[in-house]
Amino acid sequence: MSPKATQDAYTPRPEHRFTFGLWTVGNPGRDPFGDPVRPPLAPVHIVRQLAQLGAYGVNLHDNDLVPRDASPAERDRIVREFKQALADTGMRVPMATTNLFSDPAFRDGAFTSNDPRVRAYALQKTMAAIDLAVELGATTYVCWGGREGVETNAAKDPRAALGWYRDAVNFLCEYVRSQRYDLRFALEAKPNEPRGDIFLPTTGHMLAFIYTLDHPDMVGVNPEVAHERMAGLDFSHGVAQALDAGKLFHIDLNGQQPGRFDQDLRFGSDDPKAAFFLVKLLEDARWPGMRHFDSHAYRTEDEDGVWAFAAGSMRTYLILKEKVERFNHDAEIQQLLAELRDRGGEGRAAARVQFTSDRARALKAETFDLTALRTRGYAYERLDQLTMELLLGAR
Ligand code: GCO
Ligand code: MN
Ligand code: MN
Repeated sequence: MSPKATQDAYTPRPEHRFTFGLWTVGNPGRDPFGDPVRPPLAPVHIVRQLAQLGAYGVNLHDNDLVPRDASPAERDRIVREFKQALADTGMRVPMATTNLFSDPAFRDGAFTSNDPRVRAYALQKTMAAIDLAVELGATTYVCWGGREGVETNAAKDPRAALGWYRDAVNFLCEYVRSQRYDLRFALEAKPNEPRGDIFLPTTGHMLAFIYTLDHPDMVGVNPEVAHERMAGLDFSHGVAQALDAGKLFHIDLNGQQPGRFDQDLRFGSDDPKAAFFLVKLLEDARWPGMRHFDSHAYRTEDEDGVWAFAAGSMRTYLILKEKVERFNHDAEIQQLLAELRDRGGEGRAAARVQFTSDRARALKAETFDLTALRTRGYAYERLDQLTMELLLGAR
């Protein structure tokens, strides 16, 4: 089975910086009610297939590549063969992470387990995974605390848990510094699943937490579309806040209907309009990071479906990117936006609000034409309809 990429304006190429997790295309379709429907895909095979499709790289959890019970010799052989596949294809490993959720030892969390031995084991496992990440060339290390949470608040003092979490991230930052690794951490929030409630449930919570750490400069966020949507939030707003803070170190692209279990749908497949505004945000900001897809093929699919899913994810991004170009050059849309910017006239809109005593005094004395402010509409219906027509291919 060899994936075929259509050669057209939307053909992905390595310079587009698309990445997939080994666990995403490698997802065998197991769910809480059903067995796997697809056989496991060897990491080396995944690397070759994704390279053919035009991806830039692959990301991995430690155990996506090296099984939990592998001997040191097995580990070295597996890593050697994987590196060979990377070298053969030119694929990179820009990000890596630790699996701190599958092992039953982590049933009460990893960094926030009530058992201090589990917390110590989680650190040991993460240090080994960081060594592997750096060996493979990764410069971003994602921490997703899937098991860091509770089903009952009787079990855990959330402030103690946050303290343990902070200690763990501080410890890992010191470890990276002591090894002189070129590696930054990206914290990934999720409101729930697999725990009833997960600590630090949104990107906003993560951002606030980062500034309580010993080395906030080393730590940013890895927002995921699905996770903010599960919390009922507008994803672009969280990403914008991360960009504004200089903390968007990584991003997990996928799709999700609010109010459902974690669906990990193909990027853009469920809400193309939201996906468009996300692509617009990233592209307008010229964000240099990886466009990473943390999603998987429908459980209905066989391996062909997996590669159709992967190719589709990248194509959708590139199609939306082209739509962003059109939006930014559409005369009617830009005219409406220019009018918005000029609202109030005399360049007032462009002037920043900055306090001086004189400015405050003048402002107190100013008379506003409230009738005008109360009556004039904003023309957003026209603006949104033009946007919709552009997205639907009617302009
Ligand atoms: C999920 C998460 C994971 C993480 C991955 C990297 O909901 O399962 O999004 O896919 O992103 O474990 O840490
Ligand atoms: Mn997820
Ligand atoms: Mn994710």
